[in-house]
Amino acid sequence: MEDFQTRLRSHTAEVEEIIKSFLPKEEGRLKTLLSAMNYSFLVGGKRLRPMLMLETYRLFGGDDPAIRNFMAAIEMIHTYSLIHDDLPAMDNDEYRRGKKTTWVKYGEDIAVLAGDGLLNMAFEIAIEGGIAAREMDRGLYALRVMAKKAGVYGMIGGQTVDVENEGKQLNLETLEFIHRNKTSALIEASMVCGAIIGGSDEATARRIETAAGDIGLAFQIRDDILDVIGEEEKLGKPIGSDEKNEHMTYVSMVGLEKANQRVKDLSEQAMQIIADIPHENPFLMELLRSLIEREY
Ligand code: IPE
Ligand code: IPE
Ligand code: MG
Ligand code: MG
Ligand code: MG
Repeated sequence: MEDFQTRLRSHTAEVEEIIKSFLPKEEGRLKTLLSAMNYSFLVGGKRLRPMLMLETYRLFGGDDPAIRNFMAAIEMIHTYSLIHDDLPAMDNDEYRRGKKTTWVKYGEDIAVLAGDGLLNMAFEIAIEGGIAAREMDRGLYALRVMAKKAGVYGMIGGQTVDVENEGKQLNLETLEFIHRNKTSALIEASMVCGAIIGGSDEATARRIETAAGDIGLAFQIRDDILDVIGEEEKLGKPIGSDEKNEHMTYVSMVGLEKANQRVKDLSEQAMQIIADIPHENPFLMELLRSLIEREY
């Protein structure tokens, strides 16, 4: 039997093929901007969000090509969030996905605009998907979820509270607010959009949202752990970024051991919620388990 790594590689290749098909052509007067938009998107990334979306869609037996648009859109939104997160005004980081960050390669002005461009293009593509969905009310529901989770009451809100608290003492509740917004929100959008386009009812989609929230929190705690004990070559981004920016993290607050335990507990809690839904997707479960001890 082929192992998980082999399956992961082929699933990643499938996701890559779908999301790349939506990228703009680098040509014409706006060539520099379009290249900057594609640059960070193309240099790498685990593609976790579109993969979680596709696998959640499959959990519900999805059969609607509109999922492709939503997959591309969520990865564009995620990539824009990273381009902006790395800017000197934010985390001031020079490496991402194993390459120079967009602002280092193209300048801060183009990096800001490339992020804006990806965000807007994400919605151009998602709206096309929403309109073309087999059931348009599902398409619109998914669009509403994606817009909200990417916004002020989601990722942007989390990033805001994160930067506002640089250099400050935090309590665990505030840290969890930051993590659940800056990171869980896009994971929730991924899995809920997958569920809705895949055919889930609303009550079950809410259970998926709860599971995704825990998966996102665990994912960000693991990111904080890797910022301390990770290897830059594997991660493709610098370690020690949180300390440099005086960002309190789970690790700085409760220590490595408790942080690791929390990742495991949250992940298992989320997997239990999904296991209780009367559908199965063994690869999704394997993928979630692999995230607990991920090294990149
Ligand atoms: C990095 O996300 C930012 C966080 C929310 C922790 P990923 O670890 O998914 O980054 P890529 O997409 O693989 O580069
Ligand atoms: C940022 O968290 C999450 C985003 C919404 C971009 P981090 O600042 O910890 O992400 P990395 O470590 O730079 O990928
Ligand atoms: Mg940051
Ligand atoms: Mg950062
Ligand atoms: Mg980090």
